[in-house]
Amino acid sequence: MKTILTFGTFDLLHVGHVRLLSRARELGDRLIVGVSSDNLNFTKKNKYPEFSQDERMEIISMIKGIDGVFLEESLELKDFYLQEYGADILVMGDDWRGKFDHYESICQVVYLPRTPSISTTAVIEKARG
Ligand code: CTP
Repeated sequence: MKTILTFGTFDLLHVGHVRLLSRARELGDRLIVGVSSDNLNFTKKNKYPEFSQDERMEIISMIKGIDGVFLEESLELKDFYLQEYGADILVMGDDWRGKFDHYESICQVVYLPRTPSISTTAVIEKARG
């Protein structure tokens, strides 16, 4: 049984998100997603996501192939989460390439290519006109 863990905000869910999740799922037998908390986003980006952490977790949990969802409350707790959920592989988008290599002492680290030309930020900008 190979467990995959990935992390993200997943605000205003778009096709880049679901493609990343689908490709992550194919690397193993179960996929657990850490959804970053509202406060963690505020700390990182100085703004809150459009959808609350409960809404974002509810949406992610309904996607086919997702076996579990938890709230990521601190960037410093990644090693704890990886161990707690028994991760064999940590999957991140390749915007993070190299940044998570130090977790290779706990599990394999795989960076998957992002889907070009879409992001939550771009969706917000487009909707605003
Ligand atoms: N992702 C992807 N392709 C995209 C956008 C996101 O593969 N076009 C992946 C990211 O690499 C990450 C996960 O989806 O592994 C969650 O990304 P997140 O940061 O929540 O989404 P973004 O759309 O990048 O959000 P933002 O514009 O706020 O940075």
